Amino acid sequence: MKKLSMIFMFLMLATMSVFAKSVGIAMPETHVLRWIKDGESLVKEVEKRGYKGLLQYGNADQAQQNQQIQSFLTQGAKILIVGNVNDGVVSVVNEAARDKVVVVAYDRIIQGTTNYSAYITFNNYKVGTLQGQAIESALNLGAATTAAPKYITLFAGSPTDANANFFYQGAMDVLNPYIKKGVLKVIGPYPETYKDTANFQRIATENWSGTLAKTRMENLLNNDAAKITLDAVLAPNDTLGRAIIEACKADAKYKSKLPVVTGQDAEFDSALSIKNGEQYMTVFKDTAKLSEAAVILADAIANGKTPEIPGAILAEGDLKEIGYTGTGYVPAYLLDPIGVTKENIIIPVNAGFYTAEEAAKLK
Ligand code: BGC
Repeated sequence: MKKLSMIFMFLMLATMSVFAKSVGIAMPETHVLRWIKDGESLVKEVEKRGYKGLLQYGNADQAQQNQQIQSFLTQGAKILIVGNVNDGVVSVVNEAARDKVVVVAYDRIIQGTTNYSAYITFNNYKVGTLQGQAIESALNLGAATTAAPKYITLFAGSPTDANANFFYQGAMDVLNPYIKKGVLKVIGPYPETYKDTANFQRIATENWSGTLAKTRMENLLNNDAAKITLDAVLAPNDTLGRAIIEACKADAKYKSKLPVVTGQDAEFDSALSIKNGEQYMTVFKDTAKLSEAAVILADAIANGKTPEIPGAILAEGDLKEIGYTGTGYVPAYLLDPIGVTKENIIIPVNAGFYTAEEAAKLK
């Protein structure tokens, strides 16, 4: 009897996996750790809803990711959830659209076309605002004077990732007034906005590479910043933040006091660094919530229903630009990021963002 029901179960599962519709999940890279979590939780979310999840990482290489997406299409995927590397993804997105496949841009907007269903991300402008505000309060910029100004160096994310623009602008809209007043001085290039392309390129970090950020920081410390002590470094994410801290730690000047360094993603190593008083802050974007929201969205679109996504707002008004692809607008759904310092590091811990072993080290 037991054997028979086992055989029955096996046949059921085998039939389900043959008939289950597939969802292709294309994530950009693994050198920034968040994407590993994103990938795993996306697979979990699609499987919860009876789909089969096909997951691939693009190794920060768009040609490679395009091949992966093409192979999802060949395998009959009816939904694609794509965290793209850059706008080179457009050709395969157009192919998917021709096949009536539902494409949802995940975390990063797909630029250069509106030929896809929707975009889901966090409020990326607010991510930057939180970083700027953390610097503003840590340096007590409100009380700073031109006689004793504070010094900052600016870093931005990948120049091919539109998120990097919003992160930067959110932070600079907080910091620019202090720079204008002369109480905050920028060491190194100063793009007032991301639209100052020439200067933005100078502070941008190709492919969000920690190695490149570390080298740029070392050069700054040995040149432009050699004669002053930096009070803060605007770092757009944890990978770059930690690379910058490493460079500072090798400089005798910062042995007893590191500059205030920002971050994003609440990666475990950064959370620990915050707890230990090195990195100043991070921004917690709950990838479990984002992946759940992305799958609810894709599933609703695939079934012709109106998506109802808990905790997400549609990007409108001032936020509408987040859904601008360069050729038009796509519906963009935004989740809310949370700023995290030593004081509230327990928030991602309590949200279940870390493994039990990691969480124990953060308590
Ligand atoms: C994401 C960040 C991430 C960065 C590097 C951005 O598009 O929004 O969370 O740190 O890419 O992977």
